[in-house]
Amino acid sequence: MGWQTLDDMELSGRTALVRVDVNVPVEDGRVTDATRIERIVPTVRDLMDKGALPVLIAHFGRPKGKVVPEMSLSVTVPALEAALGVPVRLVTFEEAPEAVGAQKPGEVLLLENIRFQPGEEKNDPVLAAQLAALGDVYVNDAFSAAHRAHASTEALAHLLPACAGRLMEAELKALEAALSAPERPLCAVVGGAKVSTKIDLLKNLVARVDHLVIGGGMANTFLAAQGLEIGTSLAERDMGETAREIMARAEETGCRVHLPVDVVVAERFEAGAPSQTVAAEACPADRMILDAGPETVERLKELFGTCRTLIWNGPLGAFEIAPFDAATVAAARAAAEATGADALVSVAGGGDTVSALHHAGVADDFSYVSTAGGAFLEWMEGKELPGVAALHR
Ligand code: 3PG
Repeated sequence: MGWQTLDDMELSGRTALVRVDVNVPVEDGRVTDATRIERIVPTVRDLMDKGALPVLIAHFGRPKGKVVPEMSLSVTVPALEAALGVPVRLVTFEEAPEAVGAQKPGEVLLLENIRFQPGEEKNDPVLAAQLAALGDVYVNDAFSAAHRAHASTEALAHLLPACAGRLMEAELKALEAALSAPERPLCAVVGGAKVSTKIDLLKNLVARVDHLVIGGGMANTFLAAQGLEIGTSLAERDMGETAREIMARAEETGCRVHLPVDVVVAERFEAGAPSQTVAAEACPADRMILDAGPETVERLKELFGTCRTLIWNGPLGAFEIAPFDAATVAAARAAAEATGADALVSVAGGGDTVSALHHAGVADDFSYVSTAGGAFLEWMEGKELPGVAALHR
C-alpha cells in the first residue's frame, strides 16, 4: 500500500487537519446530494474517538483564489452537522489560528473554502506552511480531489505526519483491487458523450481489461469509424482515426471491444419522442441514436455473467430522459444482480455514472461506488494522482 492509515498515527490530543471533499451539488441554498458528506463521517468520528481535534479543510466550486460569497462552505454546515451529529464551526482563514487554539474535544472546525486562497491551486509552499502551522497531523480523505496538486492536497502532506482517512483508504483499496489485481475476466463499461475526453482512458483500458464495452455517444463515434451510417447522432466524426487506432490496439492486446449490435433511434432528443429499435448498421439517415437496443443489453447480461470484475464509467445512452434510459438501467440492474450473487465485483465511478446507478435504483448494490468524478477517470487512465502520491512514505 505504501501509505499510513489512522491506525498508524498518534492522535490523542492532536489537532488533525483533514482534507475532505464536500464539493456537493446545491440548489436554492440546500445540499441536494449529501453522499460525499456522509462518506467522510467514519474518518471524523474515528478521529474524535481517538481524542483528536478535527479541522476540516475543503474546497467548494472554483472561486479562483478570490473570496466569492456564493461559494462559501456555509451551505454545507447543516448537512455536515446532521451527518456528524456534532456542531461544526465555520472559520475563515484569518480566524483559524485563534479558533484552533480554542478548540475543545468533541468540536469540529471547518476552514472556509480553501480555494478562496490564491496559493491553493498553485500548490504554494507558503500557504501549505500556514496550514501546517495549524495542526499536528494531516489526514487526506479526499480521493475525489486527489487528481489536483494543490496546497491542501499535495504540498501540505509533506509538512506533517500524514495518512489516508477511512474514505481514502476504502477508495484506494477498491480501485486497486479492480484494476491492479482484479479477478479475471475483467470488463470495463465506458460510456458518455465524447471519445476526445476519454482517449487516454480507452488506451489504458484496452491494455488491461479483457472486455471493453463502449456505450453512449462514444459508441456512435466508433460505429461511424467502422463506416456505419449513424444519421444525425451525436458523434465526433473527426475522431474516426483515433477510434480505429484504439480498436487495432485492442486486437493486439486481446481485449474484446463490444459495440452496440442494435440501437434505439428517434428523430429528436426529447422525452417520450417516438422511437424505434434498429440493427446497428441500419440507422436511418434522418434519425439519431439515443440508446443501445435490447439485443445489446441481452449480450451485456451474458457478458457480465462470464466476468469476475466490472468497472463502470458512463451511461450507455441518453439516460437522463425516458425511454432512452432503458439500456443503462437494465445493464446496471444486471450488474447489480450478478454482484448480489457474489459472481461479480463491481466498481463504479464518475459523476454521471453514479446518477445513472441511482436512477436505476442499484447504487447500493454495486461492490463499490466511488465518490470521485475527475479523479476516478484519471485513475482509470493509469495516471498517478498527486494527492495519493504525496501520502506515500
Ligand atoms: C470534484 O467535484 O470532482 C472534485 O471536488 C474536484 O473538483 P474540481 O474539478 O473543481 O477540482
